[in-house]
Amino acid sequence: MNVWVYVALCCFLCSGILKQHHGVATAGSTFSQSRQLSCLFETSETILLSSEIKYIRQNAWLLLSERPYPENPSADDTIKFIIRESSLDILQHVNEDTDKLECKISRYFTDNTQILWPGIQTQGDKLDSWFTGTIKHVADKFTVTVFLVQSSASREAENRIPEEVSQGNEERFYLSGVFLVRTGPSLIQSGLKKDVLLNCAFSVDHHTDVTIQWVLQQKGGQKKLIVAYSGSTRQVDYKDKRAEMFPAEILKGNASLLLRTVEIRDAGSYACLVSVSALLGAQSIQLEIVEKPTVTLNADVLSLVEGDEHKLICDVGHFYPHDAEAQWLLEPQKPGMLPHVVNHVLSSSHRQNSDGTYSFSTYFLLKASLRDNGCRYTCRVDHRSLKQPIRKSLTVQVTESTSATWLLVLLFLLLLAGCLVVTLYYLHQVMSSNKPKPY
Ligand SMILES: *[C@@H]1O[C@H](CO)[C@@H](O)[C@H](O)[C@H]1NC(C)=O
Repeated sequence: MNVWVYVALCCFLCSGILKQHHGVATAGSTFSQSRQLSCLFETSETILLSSEIKYIRQNAWLLLSERPYPENPSADDTIKFIIRESSLDILQHVNEDTDKLECKISRYFTDNTQILWPGIQTQGDKLDSWFTGTIKHVADKFTVTVFLVQSSASREAENRIPEEVSQGNEERFYLSGVFLVRTGPSLIQSGLKKDVLLNCAFSVDHHTDVTIQWVLQQKGGQKKLIVAYSGSTRQVDYKDKRAEMFPAEILKGNASLLLRTVEIRDAGSYACLVSVSALLGAQSIQLEIVEKPTVTLNADVLSLVEGDEHKLICDVGHFYPHDAEAQWLLEPQKPGMLPHVVNHVLSSSHRQNSDGTYSFSTYFLLKASLRDNGCRYTCRVDHRSLKQPIRKSLTVQVTESTSATWLLVLLFLLLLAGCLVVTLYYLHQVMSSNKPKPY
């Protein structure tokens, strides 16, 4: 075959692979390599009369500085948000494979007030346009919210050079990244009485005072301030004694919160609120308390005599939350067979312990027959805190009721002996009464 056929074929295949991502090669490269991220630009509009909110989503690109790109995605008419070089190091916080990142850009409304930000030139009384870019790791490693501003001055300037800006009908926004907040995993599970670190970091493009608050929203409950930090006084004000922030770390952009010996009532959504000037960066971390159950049986080995009745009890204790499941299984005699689920099993209702955890027991009545000898019964407990179910087993030994038989035989013999004695005595009486009287 001609070598050009190979080349053509290869190009065809490659372009097919690369097309999948908005027609641009991004697969497998990190954000810092490609410097471009596929995003959704979400705008909302209120429908008149019904006052419903309608969301409009458009494909967009988030580009870090305009040039150079490995492959400039200018061919399509997707909206481009081009972030100028600034002292805010976005990449430091989101450096991951771009196919592991989800990105959404929204407008950030400032209530028709001008936010005065150092380094951002405004044009007369025209308002700057603010946006937020939210970049999420698909496996929930982190979430970053970046505040982006298009100054009214640069907006004016760009409109004056249309040949550079508006090629075709594509839209370009030249923005500065000025402030970001980053949280670690958005869901944290912890056992009871453990210490939990809620990760939150921030970065601002200039040196300034920040205010930090951690606010807990419990399920169906009210919002509760846990701790507040004031940048101007550098003081941390604790509302919960078990909470701790690290003032020296805060100065380095680390707003993490340590919660000591967590209890069930600490579960909920923790918002890390970082304010700089009039911007409020807010991100939440869900804390879930999960406690593993303890599983105990009322015996390890059970020795029964044929005909005995015995209650096999499986106690499932101190777990959280409520949804644990327990099953009694009869293990198969031969390997490779499936266990048999025991029928007629009863369960007590869940009782709540003083620490808020739950307990219950599940049991059945075993009427021992010789067939049960050597059987293994397993209590299998599953709960969301467990990667695999807990299994506790006991072996049943059943012996023939020999002693009972002997007892019956003995009883029978005794009865027989008794009868004999009575009969003999009676005979003796009769005999003696039949004797001729000596007078
Ligand atoms: C923030 O500070 C805490 C406490 O010193 C530390 O454990 C944590 O690793 C820090 N986080 C980062 C991202 O440096």
